[in-house]
Amino acid sequence: MKRTESDALKQVIHLASALKAPRVAECAERLAETAREQHWSHEDYLAAVLEREVAARNASGAELRIRAAGLPARKSLEDFDFTLQSGLRGPMAALALGSYLAEARNVVLLGPPGTGKTHLATGLAIAAAHQGHRVLFASASEWVNRLSEAHRHGDLARELARLARYGLLVIDEVGYLPFEQDAANLFFQLVSSRYERASLILTSNLAFSAWGAVFRDQVVAAAMIDRIVHHAEVLTLKGASYRLRGREKDSLPSVALTAQNSES
Ligand SMILES: Nc1ncnc2c1ncn2[C@@H]1O[C@H](COP(=O)(O)OP(=O)(O)OP(=O)(O)O)[C@@H](O)[C@H]1O
Ligand SMILES: [Mg+2]
Repeated sequence: MKRTESDALKQVIHLASALKAPRVAECAERLAETAREQHWSHEDYLAAVLEREVAARNASGAELRIRAAGLPARKSLEDFDFTLQSGLRGPMAALALGSYLAEARNVVLLGPPGTGKTHLATGLAIAAAHQGHRVLFASASEWVNRLSEAHRHGDLARELARLARYGLLVIDEVGYLPFEQDAANLFFQLVSSRYERASLILTSNLAFSAWGAVFRDQVVAAAMIDRIVHHAEVLTLKGASYRLRGREKDSLPSVALTAQNSES
């Protein structure tokens, strides 16, 4: 390397550190050599160096958003076997592109236990984080606890405003646990605060017709469902539980118990 080139490189490394752009410092020399060998233009070299910095920043941003999301497990859409839910392959591929987030549309995943609702919701949450959206994942009961807590402290409006900064909230497992009396109102406020503003993903083992009983309030549940499904993809998963695949049905305690009960 000529004297002037090494001086220039030192200056690039110094300036990159002042800009807090460590990847520029790391790759400036290596890419300069490649550029000389392959006769890149100055613009091509600059673009290549900056591209490294931007790619690394995006990746670490996504990683931070994924870690902050509170996902139950790290399950991606690539890990999902769509041969078992073949009707969902197309819709899920479209959702993974993320335009539903810009349009503040919702996703509702319905289906029996173990069919992959939480997995798909998690996969979409990870994809959203990669696309630059802040994401928060919790079960319906956890959301109710969080909102009740805020309500008790007279902070509900502030909490909803804080949640509005998230591009995506996932509400998993609507329907497994019955809610307290005032949960329907809190949930309604959450849904209504995001209506046509930002996306929700909900999963449930129950059809919408059973939500009134879960929320113990038919009127509020109906108004809530109305807002959720107005702009939403509603996808239904089918089949047997993936958790129990390859297991003899009769060997399962719950099934054996049901059979015994029905005999008696
Ligand atoms: N099609 C699939 N391909 C790969 N893994 C799957 C598939 N379906 C389910 N699984 C896996 O099976 C397990 C159960 O799936 P998941 O938790 O998503 O089910 P669920 O529909 O949310 O069930 P529940 O209603 O009981 O919460 C998970 O470990 C998930 O990763
Ligand atoms: Mg689940």
